[in-house]
Amino acid sequence: MRLTLHIWRQKSASDPGRMVKYDAPDVNPDMSFLEMLDVVNEGLTLKGDDPIAFDSDCREGICGTCGFMINGVAHGPRRGTTVCQLHMRKFKEGDVLYLEPWRARAFPVIKDLTVDRGAFDRIIAAGGYISVPAGSAPDGNVILVPKENAEIAMDGAACIGCGACVAACPNASASLFTGAKITHLGVLPQGQPERRERAIRMVAQANAEGFGYCTNIGECEAVCPKEIRLEVIARTNRDFITASWARRERFRNDAAISEPLGGGRT
Ligand code: SF4
Ligand code: FES
Repeated sequence: MRLTLHIWRQKSASDPGRMVKYDAPDVNPDMSFLEMLDVVNEGLTLKGDDPIAFDSDCREGICGTCGFMINGVAHGPRRGTTVCQLHMRKFKEGDVLYLEPWRARAFPVIKDLTVDRGAFDRIIAAGGYISVPAGSAPDGNVILVPKENAEIAMDGAACIGCGACVAACPNASASLFTGAKITHLGVLPQGQPERRERAIRMVAQANAEGFGYCTNIGECEAVCPKEIRLEVIARTNRDFITASWARRERFRNDAAISEPLGGGRT
C-alpha cells in the first residue's frame, strides 16, 4: 500500500524544526510502524539524506522507549498499543499520516521524533523506590500480600515510562506516570516506610521539572499503552494530603515543644 508521511524534522533542540513530506510507496501491511520507518530510512540513507531519528529498543511493547504522535494521537490509533506494536494493516491505501514528537516543555526535543525523558528518571529518583532490604525472590514470597493489593500493584507496575500520558494531556501533566509508581509501591508492605513522603517528594519533583497539574481530563488514560487507570492519581492525592497533614502536625508539635515554658510571655 502507498502512504504519504509528513514527519517533523528538527536537527537539534535549538533548530526551529519543520514538517517534511515523504512518499512511502510500497508498505507491507504486516510491517510494524517502526519497520515501515526503517524502510523509509533505508531509502533516505541510500540517497545520502539524513535518516529520521526515532527511539526504539525492545519493539515488543515492554521497554517504553518508543513513542510519537500519529495524526495527533500518542502511539497512534490502536488503543492499549505502543507504536512499536502498531501494524500497518491498521491503516489503508492512500492514508496521509502526520508524525510529531511528544510536545511538552519537560520533554525537550533531541532530534526529529526523539525527546529527552530524563525528567521521568528524576521523578523516580526523588521517591520511586524502597530503601528497606527486600531480600531475594524467596524472601519476597514469605511476606504475604493480599490478592487484591497484588493485583493493584501489578497494574501500577505495568507503566513503562513512555511519556504518552504527558504528550496527550493539555496540561502536560505527569500525574498518571507518577501515580502508577506511587500506587505500585504504596500498596505493598515493602513500600510502607516511605509511602507518604514518597508522594510529597515525587509530586514536588514533577512540579520542579515543569509538568502541569492534573485537572481530570482523562486524555492520559485514553492513550496509555498499558491502560493505567485514573484511579492511580486519586491514590497519589490521598497519600499526598495525608502526608501533608502529618507534616503539619509534626511542625506544630515541634513548635510547641521548643516554645519556652509559659509561652515566653510575662
Ligand atoms: S502511565 Fe501509561 S502513558 Fe504514562 S508513562 Fe506509564 S505507560 Fe506511558
Ligand atoms: S520499543 Fe520498547 S516499548 Fe516500543
